[in-house]
Amino acid sequence: MSATVTPLVQVHDDGAVRVVRMNRPDKKNALTGEMYAAMADALAAANKSAAVRCVLIAGSAGAFCAGNDLQDFQRAAEDEEGLSEPILRFLHALAGLRKPLVAAVQGVAIGIGTTMLLHCDYVVAATDARFATPFVNLGLVPEAGSSLLAPRLMGQRHAFALLVMGDALDAQTAQACGLVNKILAASDVDADAMKAAQKIASLPPEAVAATRQLMRGSPEEVMARIDEEADYFRVRLQSDEAKAAFKAFFERKK
Ligand code: COA
Repeated sequence: MSATVTPLVQVHDDGAVRVVRMNRPDKKNALTGEMYAAMADALAAANKSAAVRCVLIAGSAGAFCAGNDLQDFQRAAEDEEGLSEPILRFLHALAGLRKPLVAAVQGVAIGIGTTMLLHCDYVVAATDARFATPFVNLGLVPEAGSSLLAPRLMGQRHAFALLVMGDALDAQTAQACGLVNKILAASDVDADAMKAAQKIASLPPEAVAATRQLMRGSPEEVMARIDEEADYFRVRLQSDEAKAAFKAFFERKK
């Protein structure tokens, strides 16, 4: 399959580090289908390339990612669809990535902006980072395997506050929950995440891969949960609760 190319996602290599940067700052890096497709392609290609030893995912100043584009969700709800093929491909690519994944987070990380971090191996966050997964507030259910990975990472009660109550986490709380390794001034985040990625890339790659696989266990369990969540998600997208929440978001400024 040829790679999806879009200016909304920039992909380049810095030595052995593949950098994937979400680049839709005017919409706080809310993800569209073409952005998911480009990111899924970039991860799949990283798996296949011996030259790539680590992947770094980043966003813009003030916005790592504001989650799925809510207009796309609104459209999917009207068309009685579920999570689209590019979304599911990206989620599976996250779970199936065989290279370490580092994230540089500035500003908002909402929905998939937070749940993709559960697949990361190392996360550097800015002091202004804010994490939230308002799935239930939107009448939805969690995705990206987060219903499995969040309780595992932070314990049932922190995960409940995040995934069900929709409580936002500031950088300090996210670090205390284990979601974030390090907090820095926003201006230092990208460079520090790159330093960590280059360090990982300099380690013996086979030993890194084996250790990572031992720590993570089988990706099949996570993939199965992604698919299970997607079944619920499809039903929830059609719900009156979700339709009302999408409408309210786009009417908030009127
Ligand atoms: N889908 C579509 N558009 C989005 C978006 C999303 N998830 N998040 C932000 N945007 C758009 C806004 O509609 C706005 O567009 P406009 O300038 O054409 O009106 C632009 O991005 C900037 O957002 P705005 O809300 O004005 O910025 P803010 O700083 O006041 O708030 C957020 C930023 C991220 C807190 C807020 O936009 C938000 O809550 N977004 C929705 C997050 C969400 O629920 N994601 C889905 C999770 S499943």
